Amino acid sequence: MKAAVIGIGFIGAVHIEQLRRLGDVEVVALADRTEPEEKAKQLFVPKGYHDYKEMIDKEKPDCVHICTPNNTHYQIAKYAIEKGIHVLCEKPMTYTLQEANELRTLAREKGVIHAMNFNYRFYPMAYQMREMVKNGEVGNIYTIHGGYLQDWLYFDTDYNWRLEKEASGASRAFADIGSHWIDLVEFVTGLKVVEVLADFATFHKTRKKPKKSIDTYSGMSLRPDDYEEVPIDTEDYAAVLFHMNNGAHACCHISQVFAGRKNQMTLAIGGSKCAVEWDSENSNSLWIGKRGEANQIYAKDPSILAPKTAILSSYPGGHVEGFADSFKQNFRQIYDRIASGKTGEYGDFETGYREMYLGEKIIQSAREKRWISVDE
Ligand SMILES: NC(=O)c1ccc[n+]([C@@H]2O[C@H](COP(=O)([O-])OP(=O)(O)OC[C@H]3O[C@@H](n4cnc5c(N)ncnc54)[C@H](O)[C@@H]3O)[C@@H](O)[C@H]2O)c1
Repeated sequence: MKAAVIGIGFIGAVHIEQLRRLGDVEVVALADRTEPEEKAKQLFVPKGYHDYKEMIDKEKPDCVHICTPNNTHYQIAKYAIEKGIHVLCEKPMTYTLQEANELRTLAREKGVIHAMNFNYRFYPMAYQMREMVKNGEVGNIYTIHGGYLQDWLYFDTDYNWRLEKEASGASRAFADIGSHWIDLVEFVTGLKVVEVLADFATFHKTRKKPKKSIDTYSGMSLRPDDYEEVPIDTEDYAAVLFHMNNGAHACCHISQVFAGRKNQMTLAIGGSKCAVEWDSENSNSLWIGKRGEANQIYAKDPSILAPKTAILSSYPGGHVEGFADSFKQNFRQIYDRIASGKTGEYGDFETGYREMYLGEKIIQSAREKRWISVDE
């Protein structure tokens, strides 16, 4: 199968690496608005295009990976789908809910495979929680809590396109990282959110924008006269309460300005039989909390995992798997679907739409300072 990747910043390069681990997929080309040929050379990709449309038309890949800023996902996905090409899109799916709705309808009509990169689903020990919930080990779910913390936007000199509403969308912290958290909650528990109450905060009301552009996580250092002061109108922080469709209560704490937490997603589920807790910064184990006996630490080891989890683990126990591996597992299921129609558990454009829809309700709740019901 032939893949092409659009947008080679932080995550596009990860896509290329992880596609190569599949073995039956060749990365035939990439497209980027800046330095496409240099990027292709660096990553050993045969061709680099400036214009993704030209790349799609000339290379006719089986699948395109959309790894560009959020405000471009819609137009790129639409172009590819209309040409009958399968699409794997980064989250959040689109800039507006309306665009996500249009794309999911178009993808259905054109019969292409449509997928999102909700990669957290495929960390083995996160998936193991899903298996434990499904087979009744956790019991009835009472509570769900956790969050997603980062510090790469901690200082007012930290800058990225995500801070600009025109590129990122109406929500920043929740759409960017909270979308992963709530997708994982619904995926692992099998429950649905029915109501939300959100509180947003922007601690840096202005930031120092570099006069030249910088890639995500590139850590470029700039001098004072390289900056201009700009107002910030998206949230650094989101706290959200959720009511779930079984009566469970959930809450999350999402922040891009929490010092020392580089990229930490946590999910804790309190059930009637036990509690389980997973931390992405210590992702190869699971904490299991018990009332009447000793608590446990469940180490990732395919020989003792649920059979469906074991398939998601490429290495034996003690051999750490993490961020990049979760991409590989997600891509494996998507390309199996492309190759043979085998169904997978990856998020698709219906999932992408749902996260956009929940995001809209959360933004509305934060703005109106009240509970908002989720009808879909
Ligand atoms: N699943 C995950 O864990 C994860 C992690 C990081 C980012 N993301 C998502 O991936 C996307 C990209 O994020 P990033 O951090 O890699 O950003 P980035 O700024 O590091 O890279 C974006 C790249 O896209 C290029 N680009 C912009 N517009 C383009 C266009 N019209 N055509 C071709 N190239 C274009 C830019 O030149 C840049 O190289 C975002 O939607 C983000 O939310 C997902």
